[in-house]
Amino acid sequence: MKNQVIIKKVIKPFKNKIYVSGDKSISIRCLLLSSIALGKSRIFNILESEDVLNTLKSLKKIGVEFKKKKKFIEVYGVGINGFNLTKKKILYAGNSGTLARSILGLCSGINNEIQLIGDESLSKRDFSRVIKPLNLFGVNIKSKKGMLPLNLVGSEFLRPIEYIEDKGSAQIKTCIILSALNTHGTTKIKAVKSRDHTELMLKSLNYPIQIKSEKKYDLIKINGMKQFKSFDYNVPGDISSASFFIVLTLLSKNSELLIKNINVNPTRIGVINILNIMNSKIEVLNKKNYKGEQIGDIKVKSSNNFKAINCPKILNSSAIDEFLLIFLIACKSKGVSRFKNLGELNKKESPRLDIAIKFMKMIGIKVERKKNDIKIYGNPNLKLDGKYHIKNFVKDHRIFMMSVVAALTFGGKNWIINDKDSVNSSFPNFIKTIKKLGGILN
Ligand code: S3P
Repeated sequence: MKNQVIIKKVIKPFKNKIYVSGDKSISIRCLLLSSIALGKSRIFNILESEDVLNTLKSLKKIGVEFKKKKKFIEVYGVGINGFNLTKKKILYAGNSGTLARSILGLCSGINNEIQLIGDESLSKRDFSRVIKPLNLFGVNIKSKKGMLPLNLVGSEFLRPIEYIEDKGSAQIKTCIILSALNTHGTTKIKAVKSRDHTELMLKSLNYPIQIKSEKKYDLIKINGMKQFKSFDYNVPGDISSASFFIVLTLLSKNSELLIKNINVNPTRIGVINILNIMNSKIEVLNKKNYKGEQIGDIKVKSSNNFKAINCPKILNSSAIDEFLLIFLIACKSKGVSRFKNLGELNKKESPRLDIAIKFMKMIGIKVERKKNDIKIYGNPNLKLDGKYHIKNFVKDHRIFMMSVVAALTFGGKNWIINDKDSVNSSFPNFIKTIKKLGGILN
């Protein structure tokens, strides 16, 4: 069977309730932090995807033991700075920037050398953004042009740092926080706000971390070398996975969907905030607090009355993985939508800004670009009639899933979308869930 899907029909109206799989960012962080906890942690509802599997395999290589039980995974933590390697190890991060960048921080104090490698897409991504702060800690890193493969030699004499993280990248921030755990003294980070799961998880473990929130930045102070105990964690559903179904519902006719048990941390719900400004009515119900994270059910209904947005830059980081979907709504909106400062989108699993612009032009939408700012000229009457082939050369999971949503809602005679298997990195149940709602793909 070919690794592609063919879509010939838009999805029929649906009214349904779904669950999506566990949050990827939280799943990876649970494994990283439980690996240096003292004792046996239990992670429930962990995302079973390739990025998470590669996290498990990498941690195993540096001496962490796991046991997979029916309802949870058991992690036998080795304690802070407890990795003990007798020889150099090669860690494979696959497609995952989060794993790759975070594990470098986790290993900053390791007593040997590790080499980090990844798949074709990850090997093209920039690691200088984490090499720079790690060098300041005193970690020795060798790489060509800041890319993989990369060799790291840990140090037992790390020094705390003061660092300004100005990209709004949670991966950089997490790398620094994890390295700070291995370091005596207080590390200070001034970070443009981004997802804060690492900080919340440490807080829930009573770790000495202080966060002062300013308008644009978080000021984080973290004392190193304070051992914490093992923990239980129940991973909530992933808003980034839920977003494909939010937008599918918004763009479908007479449909309604309830998506249960989703992480609605304020640093992650940019997609809801932006789409609501654009006239959607997405609601979060049954909100509760779990270890500092907000969890809720998302209710969404179809709409055909979207209006263009002048998107506030401050929302970029909280919607960073969802812009491909937000652009689909902009294509169907009345008026011209404006998005600014989207350079980080080109630093993802594929150059997503470049690809999204080509995609929108392909379906007949006028898009103007100036550096990393774009204008999308929406067309509320957009209805497609052609044949489309999404080659997805870089095998980007989110490009694949966004194209499926477009094909099932915008019409068109025939869509061929390549690289179905890419969904395995973040959302292996994607196709099954689409079929549950009645989407027909061959
Ligand atoms: C992630 C942070 C974001 C996001 C990625 C997951 C994380 O990347 O795009 O999918 O879990 O920390 P950046 O930190 O590079 O923005």
